[in-house]
Amino acid sequence: MSFDLIFFGGTGDLTWRKLMPALFQAFRHGKLPPGGRILAVARDERSDDEYRAFIKERFVEVDSAKRPSDEEFARFAALLHYRRMDLSKPEHYAGLKAWIDDRRADTVVLYLATAPYLFPVICEQLGAAGLNGPNVRVVLEKPLGHDLESAQQINRVVRSVFAESQAFRIDHYLGKPSVQNLMALRFGNALFEPLWRRESIANIQITLAEELGVGTRGDFYDQTGALRDMVQNHALQLLTMIAMEPPSTSDADAIRDEKLKVLKSLRPFSAEMVARDVVRGQYRAGTIGGKPVPGYLEEQKVPPGSTTETFVALRTEVQNWRWAGVPFYLRTGKRLAERRAQIVVNFRPVPHPIFPGSARANKLVINLQPEDGLELHLLATKGSGQGEMLAPVKLDLDFDKAFPTERVGAYERLLLDAIAGRLNLFVRSDEQEQAWRWVEPILDAWAHDPNGPRPYAAGTWGPPASSAMVARDGCTWDEEE
Ligand code: BG6
Repeated sequence: MSFDLIFFGGTGDLTWRKLMPALFQAFRHGKLPPGGRILAVARDERSDDEYRAFIKERFVEVDSAKRPSDEEFARFAALLHYRRMDLSKPEHYAGLKAWIDDRRADTVVLYLATAPYLFPVICEQLGAAGLNGPNVRVVLEKPLGHDLESAQQINRVVRSVFAESQAFRIDHYLGKPSVQNLMALRFGNALFEPLWRRESIANIQITLAEELGVGTRGDFYDQTGALRDMVQNHALQLLTMIAMEPPSTSDADAIRDEKLKVLKSLRPFSAEMVARDVVRGQYRAGTIGGKPVPGYLEEQKVPPGSTTETFVALRTEVQNWRWAGVPFYLRTGKRLAERRAQIVVNFRPVPHPIFPGSARANKLVINLQPEDGLELHLLATKGSGQGEMLAPVKLDLDFDKAFPTERVGAYERLLLDAIAGRLNLFVRSDEQEQAWRWVEPILDAWAHDPNGPRPYAAGTWGPPASSAMVARDGCTWDEEE
């Protein structure tokens, strides 16, 4: 199956930092279908060879195990091409179409790795140039809009040019191996599903913690904040995968219908609930890995006195029969104590304890980062006699060890799926809009709240109010146990 993969924003950070290295891995693993061409499109003039050299230089920043040798890079680089385009000029799209038509690949994937305000103009121009035929797919990177209205605007334009089945909205968290394993765990094993409900589960915690600060992206980040950057998309997508009903098939729409139902069942926020159940924070100077780091307000390109949040913790519920009354806690932040992305499913304790120490309960931990794996925490006895306390033990599954040669990174997975036309791991427009609908009352409440975010020292787990919020339910965050 021949393909043309075209990156708008071909010299941007995302392209050289994530997309090209991911494609290279796919190439190295022999997963890239043969007969492909990769075309980067950007504003400045350069030749194919100059573009190849530009990418090669930047591969130095990719981690050493994944870095290509010169010979390997040369073979990969033969697939790379470059084309100058002014995205507002119809004749440049006509030129692109001629380049594509010249070869008539089976599949054409147009990846919009540009700033999102350009999406509507690019889509309109693509449509006008006839670059929306049935063999064309468009991949849209987040952030898709700034709020519900802007997301709807983008989606209206995208839908006026492309069918929904041609639109691949990326949430790279869905490409992470552990997230796919969540589906396998729930729907490929009979063991957990009977317990996956309010009768057995006390609460669920989703943590997406980063050690990094905003780096050189201060200007972008300041317009965005943690709620839009991580909660509206990544954290909510994980929540839907945890809470969804079993889909009737593995078809993309069967899965996405179920995810949408979860989003629609989330308890809506009122302003009072935001004050009680949402904590926003902003990092101050502190220490990460033994090194002092500046506070958010001292970061490059962050305006003085900014009230943008770099941390959010919230409590919500999924209002249906399966989950009624079970708290779902989400939290994410920059400059936290460690890089950790995980989902913790806390089970209820046994109803009638007969062993001393059996007040502790089981939990299932799904680790996404830094390692991906599964831990099932059980209680056991060493067998040293009557009256012995139960001790916590864990069954630990490390996916890297279980499948040493098979691991595929998130962007690699998603790029290959876009080329193959598999939509399962992409977000449908109605899911995305529903997620905006749900976060908007939080944004509105904050806009009217003179208090601003709560400070927290870099290198901690966020403002103490985050622990206080879960403590109200008699819970603790996982690391506090
Ligand atoms: C991106 C956010 O979507 O996800 C970044 O814009 C964040 O701010 C990144 O750092 C985190 O992704 P990962 O895969 O490194 O956890």
